[in-house]
Amino acid sequence: MAAIDIIRDRAGAEPVRLGLILGSGLGHLAEAVAGVAIDYADLPGFPGTGVSGHAPKLVIGMLEGQRVAVLGGRAHYYERGDAQVMRAPLETLGALGAEALLLTNAAGSLRPDIPPGDLMLIRDHINFSGRNPLIGEPTDARFVNMVDAYDPALRAALAQAAKAEEIALADGVYAWYSGPSFETPAEIRALRVLGADAVGMSTVPEVILARFLGLRVAAISTVTNMAAGMSDEAISHEHTKAMAPLGAAKLERILRAFLRALT
Ligand code: HPA
Repeated sequence: MAAIDIIRDRAGAEPVRLGLILGSGLGHLAEAVAGVAIDYADLPGFPGTGVSGHAPKLVIGMLEGQRVAVLGGRAHYYERGDAQVMRAPLETLGALGAEALLLTNAAGSLRPDIPPGDLMLIRDHINFSGRNPLIGEPTDARFVNMVDAYDPALRAALAQAAKAEEIALADGVYAWYSGPSFETPAEIRALRVLGADAVGMSTVPEVILARFLGLRVAAISTVTNMAAGMSDEAISHEHTKAMAPLGAAKLERILRAFLRALT
């Protein structure tokens, strides 16, 4: 059976309004959703994810009166060198009827005024890895327009939700670095010159795929650290996982207010 049929079988066939991908250390958000959880292992095409801090489950259910599909774990390019690794989950979200996709991630900040614990709404991205998940795609549909890839109306609605909750939400450009090693201080200096405000190892390939699939996209970073060379604090995955919950609580409030405001 295809993933979509298994999901309809277990969680019902009603369409979902929004798809949500949770980043490192943000997995507890899935528990806020009252619904049915399905392990990725039960869904053909869904990736195994071996990254600690990610819960590889799809949860479908209600949050603030809206039916949502939450991808509790993402697979990353750096796990196997496959930029398309999230394609099946994203296609499934589209097949479930999701109009929009909200991506979250943990990121390093390049801006002293966006310290660890703060959130940043992604306005645009820099594909610093040079990899593209649409390489090999055979049709002209591969020439995806990336202007306003981060949907202006969704961004405005998220900014409004943050304002209503009195939570500071910075606005900036996210650079995708392939990982899994962290960046060097020289790379971070280069990225600052290039116009990046935050850096991370995910999200960009998913945004490209989602736009290809016709989903509207928004994304929020939780800043877990200052990027390499910008502070004395040692950068590590442990630190990322420990810091992510700081932003996660605020992210959940913004998400709830955003869903409540959806008509
Ligand atoms: N760099 C890349 N990815 C990250 C970082 C970082 O500093 N922090 C959290 N994810």
